[in-house]
Amino acid sequence: MVNTDWTSGIDPSQASVARVYDYLLGGAHNFSADRDVARTVEAIEPQARVLAAANRAFLARATRYLAAEAGVRQFLDIGSGIPTQGNVHEIVQGVDPRARVVYVDHDPVAVAHSGAILAGNANAGVVQADLTDPAAILDHPVTREMIDFKEPVGLLLVAVLHFVPDTLDPGAILAALTERLRPGSHLVISHGTHRTQTAEAVAKVYHRAVSQGAQATLRGEEEIMRFFTGFEVVEPGLVRGPLWRPDSPDDVPEDPSRFWFLAGVGRKP
Ligand SMILES: C[S@@+](CC[C@H](N)C(=O)[O-])C[C@H]1O[C@@H](n2cnc3c(N)ncnc32)[C@H](O)[C@@H]1O
Repeated sequence: MVNTDWTSGIDPSQASVARVYDYLLGGAHNFSADRDVARTVEAIEPQARVLAAANRAFLARATRYLAAEAGVRQFLDIGSGIPTQGNVHEIVQGVDPRARVVYVDHDPVAVAHSGAILAGNANAGVVQADLTDPAAILDHPVTREMIDFKEPVGLLLVAVLHFVPDTLDPGAILAALTERLRPGSHLVISHGTHRTQTAEAVAKVYHRAVSQGAQATLRGEEEIMRFFTGFEVVEPGLVRGPLWRPDSPDDVPEDPSRFWFLAGVGRKP
């Protein structure tokens, strides 16, 4: 079942994380306020589009790994964003058409477009909810209908945890989200890391210009690793995004450290 109850709440004069990212990925679901923020970001980080594409490519590789190699058949994708190419349901239902996906985002535009492309897909749904309210996600009727917590789940938190500041206790949010996952479940994370002044400057742009209290919080390797508490991180560990199981050696950039996000996948033993 697809939740068709998305409406309201769109203020085109206020940039949103989902629409800025959509613009950087070459999408068309953005307004001029979003493009202004994206251009400011690009002025600071000329590689912004490359980084966005590399993050999206990590999401695709990790999701394919979960479906094709780890046998996961149900996915909860939180902070799923505006659908673009290589969406999670396309990847996992390409492996098994019965694979189920619930997309979750707090952005009404992301939710509306997800709903539109999922119409007619009985094995995918969308929920408008905030990551900081795990119960609203886990107990939502769409989640309850689609996800069987007695079976392994792929929990995807890709390029979203850095929008949860420490004051909102992301560790506790992770604990609440992963508590009811059974062994064999997987956790996929990518997260901005603070190794460069550029990264810090981009985080400040988001903080100033983007709605929904987007306080981008870049974190170090140890802090991001803590999000995998209760999970065994699979090879190659928590690494710069393009280094996570690249499809081909040609995909490995000359200087991976320029990709200032870390990516990893954990398995619940
Ligand atoms: C950079 S995009 C990443 C999209 C997708 N996960 C990917 O990696 O391609 C971040 C997404 O997280 C969403 N987001 C940010 N904070 C959120 C929150 N507190 N709750 C739910 N979604 C959130 C934004 O609306 C946006 O769609």
